[in-house]
Amino acid sequence: MSANHLTIALSKGRIFEETLPLLAAAGIVPAEDPEQSRKLIIGTNREGIRLVIVRAGDVPTYVRYGAADFGIAGRDVLIEDGGEGLYQPLDLQIAKCRMMVAVPQGFDYAAASQPGCRLRIATKYPDIAAAHFAAKGVHVDIIKLYGSMELAPLVGLSDAIVDLVSTGNTLKANGLEAVEHIADISSRLVVNKAALKVKHTLLQPIIEAFAAASN
Ligand code: ATP
Ligand code: PRP
Ligand code: MG
Repeated sequence: MSANHLTIALSKGRIFEETLPLLAAAGIVPAEDPEQSRKLIIGTNREGIRLVIVRAGDVPTYVRYGAADFGIAGRDVLIEDGGEGLYQPLDLQIAKCRMMVAVPQGFDYAAASQPGCRLRIATKYPDIAAAHFAAKGVHVDIIKLYGSMELAPLVGLSDAIVDLVSTGNTLKANGLEAVEHIADISSRLVVNKAALKVKHTLLQPIIEAFAAASN
């Protein structure tokens, strides 16, 4: 790909919405709304700058292989991915939430999570969950899910979940409560390391505009 073209990987939904003002600060306006269009490659007002719309968890992969020069991904996704080969210059302070352990209200988590205990944990984040419980000395059976984690303890699939919590409304609506904080999450700029060198002149002003707009 030529040095005067840029491809930006974004996911639909909250990251796209919260990224629009940052893109605008860098003088980039998408030509279409990905929520309205079935197109996965979206042009912008800037010649040579395009967006690719991918699943949130796939952003690191597109950027690592250079299929996108940079992207925006949640810290949850980046910790689970490992972030190898990715330059992460900026915390954009968007899509903020917390990675938590949650259980059915009334479940005695303190007793059930003593060192040596065994718990069944449903989560989309098996590596984060495994590391968290290993550090506590709690044995876990990890059940990998792709969404609706809050359902798992309600139907006997797991004792607890590891998931993202923002307002707490989803936990509350399903009779669950957060019992342990694992990490504060926000989204980060992730840049392909080769692109950072080869496309420095194009990338640097965008990174600076994002930095100024996210403060
Ligand atoms: P997929 O549909 O591919 O499973 P997803 O659920 O990961 O996508 P989103 O829900 O848009 O996609 O989440 C994208 C990112 O936004 C997450 O990786 C996380 O960093 C952050 N996020 C997720 N849920 C919330 C929330 N309730 N409040 C704030 N930020 C959140
Ligand atoms: C996320 C997360 C929780 C919920 C927490 O789900 O997986 O279920 O948000 O937010 P709250 O504390 O404000 O209720 P999301 O809305 O992204 O749904 P999906 O990933 O299953 O589509
Ligand atoms: Mg989600």
